[in-house]
This record gives sequence, C-alpha cells and structure tokens, in this order.
Amino acid sequence: MSELPEADEHALRHSKELEKVIRGQIESEDGQISFAQFMQMALYQPGLGYYSAGARKIGAGGDFTTAPEISSLFSICLARQCAEIMRDLNGAVILELGAGTGVMACDILTELKVLNALPRHYYILEPSADLQQRQQQLLAERIPDLESIVSWLDSLPEKTFEGIILANEVIDAMPVRRFCLDNDNVDELFVVWEDDKFDWKRGPADAELDSKVKTVLQQPVSDYPHAYCSEINSALDNWIKSLADCLARGLMLFIDYGYSRHEYYHEQRTQGTLLCHYQHHVHSNPFLYVGLQDITASVDFTAVAEVGFNAGLNISGFTPQAYFLLGCGIEKIMEELKYEDVREQLEASRQIKLLTMPDEMGERFKVIALGRNIDMALRGFSLVDHRRRL
Ligand SMILES: C[S@@+](CC[C@H](N)C(=O)[O-])C[C@H]1O[C@@H](n2cnc3c(N)ncnc32)[C@H](O)[C@@H]1O
Repeated sequence: MSELPEADEHALRHSKELEKVIRGQIESEDGQISFAQFMQMALYQPGLGYYSAGARKIGAGGDFTTAPEISSLFSICLARQCAEIMRDLNGAVILELGAGTGVMACDILTELKVLNALPRHYYILEPSADLQQRQQQLLAERIPDLESIVSWLDSLPEKTFEGIILANEVIDAMPVRRFCLDNDNVDELFVVWEDDKFDWKRGPADAELDSKVKTVLQQPVSDYPHAYCSEINSALDNWIKSLADCLARGLMLFIDYGYSRHEYYHEQRTQGTLLCHYQHHVHSNPFLYVGLQDITASVDFTAVAEVGFNAGLNISGFTPQAYFLLGCGIEKIMEELKYEDVREQLEASRQIKLLTMPDEMGERFKVIALGRNIDMALRGFSLVDHRRRL
C-alpha cells in the first residue's frame, strides 16, 4: 500500500460507501461471498463500482491505458480487418462491447469511411452508464457526421445479424472465482470481513467449481505445488454463447491479455493472474481502494475457443497482438499517414513499438477470432496463426 499514491478524501469516502455495501452483502450471505461476487460489486455496483462511478479510468490521467488509447494505428488495423470481412457480408453491422472512452469506435468508423466500407450500423453495448456518457460525448465531438449510424444498446440484439463483434480488454474485466489447491482437494477462496478489513477465507469448492477446475488443470491436483492458487472465469460460457446466438454470419474478434490453457495453469504460475491497476501502479491486492482501482484477470484463450466451438463457431485465428497488427499492415499504414513534422512521425514509431514489442503489449496480448458461416483468409492471422497451441 505504501508505494501506491494516496487517494483524496472524496475518493476515500466513496470507497468506504462501496465497502459498506459489500460488507452488507457478506453479512446477508452468512459471512462470506465468492471472489466473483466481490469483483462484480467492486467493479460494477450501480453508482459505486469502479466502472459504474464517475472517476476517469482509462488513459494518461486514469489508472491504466489500453491499445486504442495508445494509438489510432491499432484501431485503423482493426478497421482494415473489418473492411475485409464486411466485403463478404450482406449489409453488415459492427457491435462493439465495452467501448471504454469511445476512442476505438471513433477511429474505426473514421477509417471505414475513408475505405468506403462503413457498416450499416455500429452498435455499442456498454454496461457502465458513466462510460456510455463519455462515449456519446466523444463521438458527438469527433465524428458528428457518423452519429446517425451509431447507437447504444442495453442488452444484446434480439434478432440475429450478419457482422462483426469486437471486444478489446473486456474479458479481463469479467469477474472470476478464485481457487486454491491443497493435496487432492480444490478449495474456493471466499471473501470475508474480519478485523475491519476484507480478507480471504478458504472453503471447500462446490461441485461446479471443483469440476471446472479439474477440467482446466493440466495435471492431477496432487501434482501441483501445495497452495497453488488461480482463478476461473465462470461467466465466460454463457457470455460467449449469448454472443454466438446473435451472430447469423460473421466474426467475433477478442483482443486481451492472456494465455492458452497450458500456459495459464502452468504449475509455476502459483498465484494466478489477478492484477489491480491504480493510477498506473500495478499490484495484486484487490482489497485496497475498493471501487477506486481496476481488478483484472488474464484470459484463458483455450476456454474462449472451446466455448465458441461448442456454440457452433469456428476458431478462425489466434495470434499475438504484434503479429495481428503487422499482418494488418501497421507499418505500411504508418508510412501512408501524413505527419506534420518529424516529431509526430517519431511518436508514431514509439506507439508501434508499444503495441508490438514482445516485452510491451506485443506478446502478452493476443487476438482470437471466432467465426460463423465465414470462410476466408484473414489478414490479421496471415503472418502467424497459433490456433494449434490452444
Ligand atoms: C478495461 S476496459 C476496456 C475499454 C476499451 N475496450 C478499451 O480498450 O479502452 C473494460 C470495458 O469492458 C466493459 N465491460 C465489462 N463487462 C462487460 C460485459 N459483460 N459486456 C460488455 N462490456 C463489458 C467495461 O464497462 C469497460 O468499458
């Protein structure tokens, strides 16, 4: 805690209010809740959760930054991939999930307009009312001429559509259940309130968690180190199934940090992948600054592929972000852009490095494509495709 910047009085009061609501939930459930419930409330409790409340979250003045915030080159690459797919579809729409500040939507639509490949409609599904408002403001300022084709949804469309579903860094923001192994047993890590603070408490996993954990682990429980802990996204199945139900024809593109399953549940990753972001400081304690910091877990891309496959989708590609962007021609796009001066050009080179270098976002972030009734070579996966590693 000592290395984290101090929160101001107003923010701390806000955090205390949310803390009280979560404590109330813990009391009403006989003294403990799952970590997924805690994370859900910490991030999405109406009016109080990290994503639901009004503080600035994403970008330089917030807590963390994302690829579309780093550079419009990222979104231009996505737009080029979308244009290629939409040529093959009938009056396609794009649905973006969790659009953050709205900058990716602005840059994608601007590029699609240049390419003369605008979708029939661009939908945004954003659960945070605060972010939705910010997105509406940004789009109104930056692309007023395209406003008429953009609308915000409160839930997934009831009618199926042909098109593309995009989500950048959305799956990592979904609540996860935490577990810990103890010889032959799987325990769940619950959240309790003790000695005036939130804390972990181990208890036997229920049958559902026990079975899910045993499915994802790479070896028998007893072969893992004692007290091996990790997490599992138990909402992922229904989430992908409900998206698959919407898509008559087209592609889903998910970009996020994570691993294939054998890397995720590697025996040496003994403490899982939970990370918290507060004012650009990264640490692993989700009980600090509740409601003021982001909480994330890496994505098990094998799980994404499995659920997609079981929902009738094809796995159309899986590659590190660097290769996706290079396959979409990020370097050529940079050469094509007109820069005011050499400083601007150097800044674009710096951004490309951040997005593609292996020790920055290039390797840690991956892109997975799940398709329905679509059979075409995708430029983003033309250089490297790691589908077989899933
Ligand atoms: C880490 S932010 C990423 C924002 C943006 N995509 C970007 O790259 O800057 C996570 C976003 O996902 C949204 N989100 C979380 N759960 C979601 C869900 N089930 N469906 C759609 N969006 C969700 C959050 O409200 C937030 O906008």
